[in-house]
Amino acid sequence: MCGIVGYIGPDQAADVLLAGLRRLAYRGYDSAGITVVGDEALRTVKRAGKLDRLEAAVRETPLVGTIGIGHTRWATHGAPTETNAHPHSDCTGRISIVHNGIIENYQALKAELEAQGHVFTSDTDTEVLAHLIEREFKGDLAEAVRNALRLVEGSYAMAVVSQDAPGVLVVARQHSPLIIGHGPDAYYVASDVPALLHRTRRVTYLNDGDIARLTRDGVSLWGKDGSPRAPQIVTITWDVSAAEKGGYRHFMAKEMHEQPSALVDTLRGRLPASDQAAILSELEMTREELQKVGQVILIGCGTAYHACLVGEFALEELAGVPARAAMASELRYRDALITRDTLAVVISQSGETADTLAAMNRVKEMGARVLAITNVVGSSVDRAADKAIHTNAGPEIAVASTKAYTTQLSMLFMLALAFGEARGHLVPERARELRAAMRNLPEQAAQALAQEDVVNACASRFRGAHGALFLGRGANYPTALEGALKLKEVSYIHAQGYAAGEMKHGPIALVTPECPTVAVAVPGRVYDKMLSNMQEVRARGGPIIAVGVEGDHDLESYADAVIRVPRTEEVFSPLLAVLPLQLLAYACAVDRGLDVDQPRNLAKSVTVE
Ligand code: M6R
Repeated sequence: MCGIVGYIGPDQAADVLLAGLRRLAYRGYDSAGITVVGDEALRTVKRAGKLDRLEAAVRETPLVGTIGIGHTRWATHGAPTETNAHPHSDCTGRISIVHNGIIENYQALKAELEAQGHVFTSDTDTEVLAHLIEREFKGDLAEAVRNALRLVEGSYAMAVVSQDAPGVLVVARQHSPLIIGHGPDAYYVASDVPALLHRTRRVTYLNDGDIARLTRDGVSLWGKDGSPRAPQIVTITWDVSAAEKGGYRHFMAKEMHEQPSALVDTLRGRLPASDQAAILSELEMTREELQKVGQVILIGCGTAYHACLVGEFALEELAGVPARAAMASELRYRDALITRDTLAVVISQSGETADTLAAMNRVKEMGARVLAITNVVGSSVDRAADKAIHTNAGPEIAVASTKAYTTQLSMLFMLALAFGEARGHLVPERARELRAAMRNLPEQAAQALAQEDVVNACASRFRGAHGALFLGRGANYPTALEGALKLKEVSYIHAQGYAAGEMKHGPIALVTPECPTVAVAVPGRVYDKMLSNMQEVRARGGPIIAVGVEGDHDLESYADAVIRVPRTEEVFSPLLAVLPLQLLAYACAVDRGLDVDQPRNLAKSVTVE
């Protein structure tokens, strides 16, 4: 997974490309590079490591020219070295290409091209594209790209320039996101909208199979079947500051503190006082159709999978409908029992996660109706689902997902409520109570986040920790998993999320004074059981940090420290209980001086398997 950019216009391309790459670094940051089309030749600079190194190199050797392409890489084929960094070039050095995705048949293509005399310099799959285009080029770059791509299997978003096609930039998309930005006198290319927002709000989302030729005079676009079509332009309404840090030290901090307003945006117009029709009409499902759903399968990866687990609980609890959460990466290779009365709820912040897309296509083929919950309008999941509803959380830049998760939960709660009422599982009085509780969630989230000082004090307990345990039960078992995932990914402290009742079946052996346990102990049917599990840990010398509710003073005698969140319905409590765990992971990472927004080995959206 990588980020690509392109520019054609009156300004110096290098400046525009570097600014765009900076905004795409969340997609990968193993290496970066740009090519600028000069008067005499293409000039390429690339560096292993983060973008700063490329910027420094370009400062030393300015690249002059007004057309160019750029790339920030998350390695898939070949080590993250300068040689493997993009852009890649053909044998002559007259073609330069950037690519996001995977060319699955690259080894066969490479062997064929080598037999024809082409010389490869990198270990990447991408380089075959440059040589294929070189072979197919007869004077028309778009035609050469089209002919080359006929031979290619896999996924790509790519941009290419050639010394022999002056004033032309060609792009293509297949299963990897790509957009074109339209300026008054310039055109832009990017993997994602934030890279363009400082330049234009008018964008065209390319479809799978599209190829486009950009010149200073306009954009020519051809669809999958080769026929030309006019680019459809949509206007992005996000505020540009939403894509930047807004005064916070890290995007993760900004995004955590945006959760109350993001929740307001998610709930807006979907939670009227006395009838559930608003969300139903958005779902485009009638009451009868909801009644006929035999099972719900919730599909996602990572944090989105944890949202699926919360959704499973909420749907069973509030709607009485059989529900199960499935990891997309597992489901895609299983013969799952999908029936025509299955509703698949596919959850993805980015809408571009490869495993999620594959699992979604699989259940769709098997006859399930697919409802997507995504944050990115126009993303692949958004467009491939039968129906998509958007979390409206605004762009999430930090690799660690925070506001996407809580807005996904709020969407799932609304879905469960709508199901529950339509199926007669919830009496109107109870549904009203639940909706009232939901309306309080944004304000309660703000109260929970205001506990940051208490959380920061707890973070010091993780200095020198050998590992950490996160325990939860019932509705908050997924909260334990999510707390552990957050701590692992940003602070690199090994953490294990567990259903507390399972502790005595093995993990309790891990308990030592150097292994803090975070216990989610909010009111609900398993509260007393949770207290017993905490006692079991304490009896073995393990320090405990409890997440409990305001006014629960019993907890102090079970824990070394208590972080409090407001009270809500048990079924909604995961949305509030996770907030201190996000803050905790963040505080530990900052305490350790780590790169919070771009943790090692990770990338924001995993668009390859
Ligand atoms: O964009 P998606 O929601 O499909 O992403 C799924 C996971 O890759 C993502 O949630 C990942 O686990 C996060 N980095 C966790 O913070």
